[in-house]
Amino acid sequence: MTTQSEHGFSILAVDDNRNALEIIKRILARSGYEVITCEGVPEAVNILNDQRVDLVITDMKMPKYSGFELVRHVSENFNDTAVIMVTGYPSIEGAVEAIKIGADDFLAKPYTDDELLSVVRRALDRLTAQRAAQSVLELDVSFGIVGNSDPMKKVSKLIAKAATMTANVLISGESGTGKELVARAIHYHSPRSSAAFVPVNCTAIPESLIESELFGHEKGAFTGANATRSGFFEVADGGTLFLDEIGDASQNLQAKLLRVLQNKEIIKVGSSQIIKVDARIVAATNKGLLDLINRKLFREDLYYRIDVIDIPIPPLRERGEDVPLLIQHFAAQLCKEMGREPLSFSDRAMNAMTAYSWPGNVRELENLVQKLIVSVDGNNVDIVDLPGRMRFSIEHQAGLNRSLAAVEHEYIQNVLASVGGNKTQAAKILKIDRKTLREKLKKIASNQQ
Ligand SMILES: Nc1ncnc2c1ncn2[C@@H]1O[C@H](COP(=O)(O)OP(=O)(O)OP(=O)(O)O)[C@@H](O)[C@H]1O
Ligand SMILES: [Mg+2]
Repeated sequence: MTTQSEHGFSILAVDDNRNALEIIKRILARSGYEVITCEGVPEAVNILNDQRVDLVITDMKMPKYSGFELVRHVSENFNDTAVIMVTGYPSIEGAVEAIKIGADDFLAKPYTDDELLSVVRRALDRLTAQRAAQSVLELDVSFGIVGNSDPMKKVSKLIAKAATMTANVLISGESGTGKELVARAIHYHSPRSSAAFVPVNCTAIPESLIESELFGHEKGAFTGANATRSGFFEVADGGTLFLDEIGDASQNLQAKLLRVLQNKEIIKVGSSQIIKVDARIVAATNKGLLDLINRKLFREDLYYRIDVIDIPIPPLRERGEDVPLLIQHFAAQLCKEMGREPLSFSDRAMNAMTAYSWPGNVRELENLVQKLIVSVDGNNVDIVDLPGRMRFSIEHQAGLNRSLAAVEHEYIQNVLASVGGNKTQAAKILKIDRKTLREKLKKIASNQQ
């Protein structure tokens, strides 16, 4: 059975009345749409499970299961399928209810050929637009890294290059910019992906255990060494060793690392046997290593061993256009994980978040989205839902040439706008009483005349 019409869409019509189905089929066929039909909800559910359906047109009143149940089934299980409910006349409540539970549109009986055609076209146009938006979003995710700004495109190119090479990599960037994400992307897209990715935080290894952690130990090598153990380098053999916060590595750790990078061999504590290791080093730092070298806190010889492929990750404030993409990405991902409806953001909220300077970078943004998912009533985030530091970020960035009265005036108006003009709430935020607020507003109004 071919279900694809010349438009490339597959349409399923459901009605217990065979004549009604024939009419829908004939009208849509004249415009080049091919329609499959069935006479009940259970049959429709089977068809939906078996094949891709772009649009369902369902009657409302049917025996056993109603059109409402089918609308709910489709909207909860097939988010890439549109639904139109055909309602008997007069049935405006039915139509409203259908839209509420997820129908894209409704059509009241009796309808003309043109009415049916236009409601079908509208639904399919919307579906096409939705799919286009979705594919743009997917294109923007490369190596699981969201971002379409020029600096992030550069990072993606460097990841692709680093993945094909075996040279060591140094990733630098502020806290929360995605350094570990980039390190993992390099490993999992490299020929080493089937071997281990071993993350090691250079600040977390106790001084006394450095050798045994890096190189492993033999049973009985020291008190507490109850069994022979492999160290990080051996575990990462054939794979990638991720040295996080390398800028904070102690002098001792730096010396030990340098030796392995030079010789590519290790000796376990308590052993005399030399073991060859082939671990690719990807290191990360949020401190400028050149500065540390100048201050004699970091070994220059180690730096040159690591910094062969250099990947700097810019802070989020330098790639504002990625902010809406990241917000959408985390909102979609986290809502799905938490099983709640997708969250949308008003333009004002998006603008405020894009203007904000994100000292904690992507991690701060991810945390905020998580908090909003829990705290916001309903599914739309507006500017009032955002933390104060974002709502007034315009203030923080304002020039320094304005009078105190002008700043106070603008600030009061911003606060009022953020609470939708509610003076009681505004007064509470400003920590003044309503009377004082009223007087200040009066003064502002008279100054403006
Ligand atoms: N471009 C991005 N796209 C999607 N998720 C991102 C992106 N950048 C960062 N993240 C996410 O943000 C969080 C922080 O990233 P990550 O841990 O890689 O940062 P980091 O630079 O290693 O931070 P730190 O310096 O604090 O260790 C992670 O949950 C990560 O998945
Ligand atoms: Mg990190």
